[in-house]
Amino acid sequence: MKSFWNELKKPFFVLAPLADVTDPAFRKIVAQTGKPDVLWTEFVSADGLYHTREKKRMLDAENPLVRDLLFTPGEHPILAQIFGSNPETIAYASKLAAELGYDGIDINMGCPDRSIEKQGAGAAMMKHPEDAAAIINAARESGLPVSVKTRIGYNKEEMDTWLPILLKQDLAALTVHLRTRKEMSLVPAHWDLAHRVVELRDKHAPQTFLLGNGDVKSLAEAREKANETGLDGIMLGRAIFGNPWLFTEREPESIPPREKLEMLGSLAHKFDQLRPRKSFHLLKKHFKAFVNGWPGAAEMRGTLMETNSYEEFADRLREALELVG
Ligand SMILES: Cc1cc2nc3c(=O)[nH]c(=O)nc-3n(C[C@H](O)[C@H](O)[C@H](O)COP(=O)(O)O)c2cc1C
Repeated sequence: MKSFWNELKKPFFVLAPLADVTDPAFRKIVAQTGKPDVLWTEFVSADGLYHTREKKRMLDAENPLVRDLLFTPGEHPILAQIFGSNPETIAYASKLAAELGYDGIDINMGCPDRSIEKQGAGAAMMKHPEDAAAIINAARESGLPVSVKTRIGYNKEEMDTWLPILLKQDLAALTVHLRTRKEMSLVPAHWDLAHRVVELRDKHAPQTFLLGNGDVKSLAEAREKANETGLDGIMLGRAIFGNPWLFTEREPESIPPREKLEMLGSLAHKFDQLRPRKSFHLLKKHFKAFVNGWPGAAEMRGTLMETNSYEEFADRLREALELVG
């Protein structure tokens, strides 16, 4: 199978799926500012896509789940991340992603959210490893390369039993968030275990691309981690908050306030154009992240946080731009 993974220059640096952050508006901004080697969508429910299938053609309007899957040509290569535990819905969602032009399917087997786990999906897959193969095979019906994102274990580190189960599925790629499900994101990621993950990959599936994830703050740090560990790629997540320049060589401290505010304005504008609109309030986490790091930023942020609509925000942003000159 022809796969974009084989075309990537190693080591590669990719943007993590981040629900309610890496939405179509944010991804577009990132792709235009400094494109990672691969982009992931936020996770999308395979069951949800399946149950709303009558609306699947109404791409830009009625089906909010399909809307989460919209992307622009500048975002390739891009993976649709899905979650679910029913092979039928996984096959449906994967074929839909193929129709939409995605370059690959990524299956979430690491999310600790209770509502996802209740469906037998996300991190719960580690408790039912026998289901993993069926889910991966169902995604393969799309004809796209299939990858998985997971963690090093559920309540405790169990890489030696869990990872080989995945690696034996001949995945195109595997991303390992170097924490257990129980650890959520509360302890530092266990980068000391990355060597073992590489050994397991080399033993069970040398053809599978391997990515490590957890706490990486910059492209420079990602390069170091790749060199030290022998991983093929590094995935960066929260470091993108307020910093769509993450995949460029620019230091966040060197970005002038005006540029940060303009970027925030552009993000909010794109977000507002999505139909049907998502709640304006979802944008507020970005206000915190972008309006940061210069004298007067806290007050400016406070003013923006008080707004309740895009129009109100745009007015206040104009005033803020006058203030920073
Ligand atoms: C706000 C938020 C949303 C997330 N959404 C997803 C998701 O949709 N799918 C997924 O596999 N992981 C998700 N994660 C986990 C991240 O992809 C990543 O594994 C984790 O944040 C650790 O990487 P980092 O330290 O570089 O952020 C999310 C994390 C955060 C903080």
